[in-house]
Amino acid sequence: MNLPASVQNALNEQIKNELQSHYIYLAMSAHFESSPFFGFAKWMRAQSTEEYGHAMKVFDYLRDRNVPIRLQAIDAPPAAFSTRPVELFEAALAQEQMVTQQICNLYELAQNEKDFPTLQFLTWFLQEQVEEENTVSDLIDRLRLAGDDPSGLLRLDSEAGERAGGKS
Ligand SMILES: [Fe+2]
Ligand SMILES: [Fe+2]
Repeated sequence: MNLPASVQNALNEQIKNELQSHYIYLAMSAHFESSPFFGFAKWMRAQSTEEYGHAMKVFDYLRDRNVPIRLQAIDAPPAAFSTRPVELFEAALAQEQMVTQQICNLYELAQNEKDFPTLQFLTWFLQEQVEEENTVSDLIDRLRLAGDDPSGLLRLDSEAGERAGGKS
């Protein structure tokens, strides 16, 4: 069974969306590398690697379904970020919420097209988005609690670094 053209296009677009996330997290990681927050740098880098993995998951699915892969241009990430870590994680949450919406739109499209294998493929992404939004929200809650207290921030930084270490 061939993938409907609309689904082919939307999945190709999703490779770009995941690579866009990859690039934004990589830029955030670079930002933290030149700050005192090396743990957040490590967390962002691990996150960036995960997003690349998501792009490749879609890439491999298109390959398996014999769909031509058309890579698209991604935008340059922001050149500068806030010095307050919480603001980067708020931007990360907004980014994840946007990706969740993209996946939901893809799911709806596959449903309308009665493309059942793609629906099945997308369920992993739906679940992944729930987890990612949850992880980032928890971190934001704790960063807000720490406010501008250096010792609180450094403690969250080192926790984030340890978690990222376990991940990659
Ligand atoms: Fe992703
Ligand atoms: Fe993500």
